[in-house]
Amino acid sequence: MKFICTTCNIYVYDEDKGDLNINVKPGTSFNDIPDYFRCPICNAKKKLFKKILKENDKKTRQKNMYISKNKIKDEKVTYHQIRNNAREQLQGICAVNRVCDGNPDRFCMGQSYGSNIGLGGVGKGLSFTENIKSLDKIKLKTRLISKHFEPDFSTNFLDYKISVPVMTSSLSGVRICMGGSISEIDFAVAVLQGAKNAGSIGWIGNTCDEGQELTGIKAVKKIGYGIPIFKPQKNNRLFELIKMAEKSDSLAVGVDIDGVGSTNWELNKKPVFRKSFKELIELVDSTDLPFIVKGIMCIDDALLAVDAGVRVIDVSNHGGRALDSTRGVAELLPEIVKAVNKKVVVTAGGGVRTGFDVMKMLALGADAVLVGRDIIRSAIGGGSEGVRLFFEYLKGDLRRGMIQTSCNNIKEINKNIFDNQLK
Ligand SMILES: Cc1cc2nc3c(=O)[nH]c(=O)nc-3n(C[C@H](O)[C@H](O)[C@H](O)COP(=O)(O)O)c2cc1C
Repeated sequence: MKFICTTCNIYVYDEDKGDLNINVKPGTSFNDIPDYFRCPICNAKKKLFKKILKENDKKTRQKNMYISKNKIKDEKVTYHQIRNNAREQLQGICAVNRVCDGNPDRFCMGQSYGSNIGLGGVGKGLSFTENIKSLDKIKLKTRLISKHFEPDFSTNFLDYKISVPVMTSSLSGVRICMGGSISEIDFAVAVLQGAKNAGSIGWIGNTCDEGQELTGIKAVKKIGYGIPIFKPQKNNRLFELIKMAEKSDSLAVGVDIDGVGSTNWELNKKPVFRKSFKELIELVDSTDLPFIVKGIMCIDDALLAVDAGVRVIDVSNHGGRALDSTRGVAELLPEIVKAVNKKVVVTAGGGVRTGFDVMKMLALGADAVLVGRDIIRSAIGGGSEGVRLFFEYLKGDLRRGMIQTSCNNIKEINKNIFDNQLK
């Protein structure tokens, strides 16, 4: 059997060969290697190694899926266990590192040579890393001497009250990008149900997989609410999808206009198009549902979206998966917020991993924050319960952050919490 280091994803220990460089004889089982063993490349601990599954082990992988539903029901499954399970399910795609930052040495960033990009970013991953950097450079100010309140992090999104200003970003492409250990519909249901159980709202993406294009709409129908975001196809097709969404209890509908740069749709030879201002107005006018445009990365587009009658803009570079070399979302966000001057609801997503990151995006002016990759890891590792537990994890840090920056509610999170030049 072979075991791979899930931190660097480079070193493989082969039991047949052993490793004479580290004094392990051929035929030594991985279990018999002492616990103090470290990966010779990145120094990761032995427990961070995973058995490499063979093709016919896929059944076992599927059996382990969701850490078995009974286990989730009977025992208290921790978010840590869910991440470990995700590492197993996403083997060869995402190492579920503690920090997911688009570093070019990460396993996910080695997949872009003509194949799909898994959970990585396009090009050199500059937009992906920039999202992280733009959040990381913001420093928070500890401010403690004031009357203690239990923070209230509920807020409104459109006409709905949500328990926390975080929603799942629109996601799709389980077979193409996420290893296919569950079906597209199970994934979509897990995301929307998990968000609902956490007291929030799930957005869901639009895969180009043959026969699966309506998965998002079907999942919304099943869960009772959610928001489908469609790829920028021809308007005639979008009108049809929007009509179906209206009948399926969608709270809003939208288009990820930056999906025009989708590598997956291109690989599958499915055409996607830019949208003219006129086409955007047609889409907005085709429905009574609030219309969302996802993928706004400049003031011009933001203002055109406002003029077209859009209700929500999502400031996002698709997690660095569409155009490489963009600015980070957190860097750009305040300019867009200022330009639209409260005429639309502004969401922001890209690089958000913790409740502290959520606070930063809110302080920069976002009305709500969207999370992508960590929702994938949570849904793949633990289904709807995984997603719910991820929201709980975010809430924990958000609460800690609000208490320590003296913010009693979401409205009080503003630039005063910053401790550097951004203020
Ligand atoms: C594997 C994968 C699939 C995605 N699928 C979609 C999609 O179908 N529609 C969409 O609008 N965005 C899609 N996105 C982008 C996310 O909605 C989101 O903008 C991005 O992941 C946010 O960055 P983060 O992952 O750093 O949180 C996808 C992202 C990933 C990683």
